[in-house]
Amino acid sequence: MTKKRVLTGVTTTGIPHLGNYVGAIRPAIAASHAPDTESFLFLADYHGIIKCHDPELIHESTQAVAATWLACGLDPEKTTFYRQSDIPEIMELNWILTCITAKGLMNRAHAYKAAVQENLDKGQEDQDHQIEMGLYSYPILMTADILMFNAQEVPVGRDQIQHVEMARDIAGRFNHRFKEVFTLPEVKIDENVELLVGLDGRKMSKSYGNTIPLWENDKKTQKSVNKIITNLKEPGEPKQPDESPLFEIYKAFATPAETAEFTQMLAEGLAWGEAKKMLAAKINAELAEPRERYSALTANPAQIEDILQAGAQKARQQARVLLDQVRDAVGIRALK
Ligand code: ADP
Ligand code: TRP
Repeated sequence: MTKKRVLTGVTTTGIPHLGNYVGAIRPAIAASHAPDTESFLFLADYHGIIKCHDPELIHESTQAVAATWLACGLDPEKTTFYRQSDIPEIMELNWILTCITAKGLMNRAHAYKAAVQENLDKGQEDQDHQIEMGLYSYPILMTADILMFNAQEVPVGRDQIQHVEMARDIAGRFNHRFKEVFTLPEVKIDENVELLVGLDGRKMSKSYGNTIPLWENDKKTQKSVNKIITNLKEPGEPKQPDESPLFEIYKAFATPAETAEFTQMLAEGLAWGEAKKMLAAKINAELAEPRERYSALTANPAQIEDILQAGAQKARQQARVLLDQVRDAVGIRALK
């Protein structure tokens, strides 16, 4: 039986939060346990240095993200688990793909367009003011991550759909121009999960400092949850699910039956304070065991490093084979 290849990564620019967990880590780990899949899970530290220029944070976050995956149930025996920067083949592939990627495609990338829009909104004459090439070329590096292992399925949050589509586009272009080397990847979105909203009402993101962190104790989690925006409705007043982002977070941690019950309770006037207690209790229950494993792992970083090095070795063996095919396809090969 040929197994389905599933691949995803997390950038190392902060301590993982509920959005990362619900949108990426939990579904990827669930998929990695399926007998018919082969998983590739990695720390995107070269993506990290695009947005984050604080070396200490990159370093700390690499440890935190690695410990997070392991604490959440990743089995390094079953999964190829590695750090992007330990696989130099990815950077080689990144360049080759850069040479075939249309500039116009990159002009349309959301992150770049948002940066341009910010300049225009500020009245900057140069629309590319302070935009670096790393940001501009970000989708090409992500494409290299995905194509390096011929991933068939890429589970990500909704904000990343465009990048996976670009990876398909670039893979198709390479196959057409040179040789059928690459598998066209497909994006996989967990249909039950919306993009979680953060404490300030924007997308929950490390970059916005509006997250509910994963690895806090029960009390601190309750404190974070208490900061979720609600409205001024009093206890006893009927409330609708869309009146606060707390509903979507609850849904992400509850069964459909529990979610239906929660909706009913809100409609019957459940106080926001009580709803927040119910939410924190759900989060804390699901994370109790992973939190214990996380503490043990972070107390022993050398053990995490060993796991990553073993993963890199496994990954590089495969990466080399594909990269040799790619180099050959573009005409880079030994003279004989
Ligand atoms: P951040 O925005 O916090 O920097 P990353 O860009 O590192 O997060 O995203 C890592 C993974 O987590 C991606 O697959 C992304 O789509 C997912 N993700 C990030 N934020 C959220 C969110 N608020 N809700 C659901 N998934 C998310
Ligand atoms: N760009 C992704 C994010 O910010 C992280 C990432 C890097 C990734 N390379 C990837 C995700 C390859 C999936 C596949 O969320």
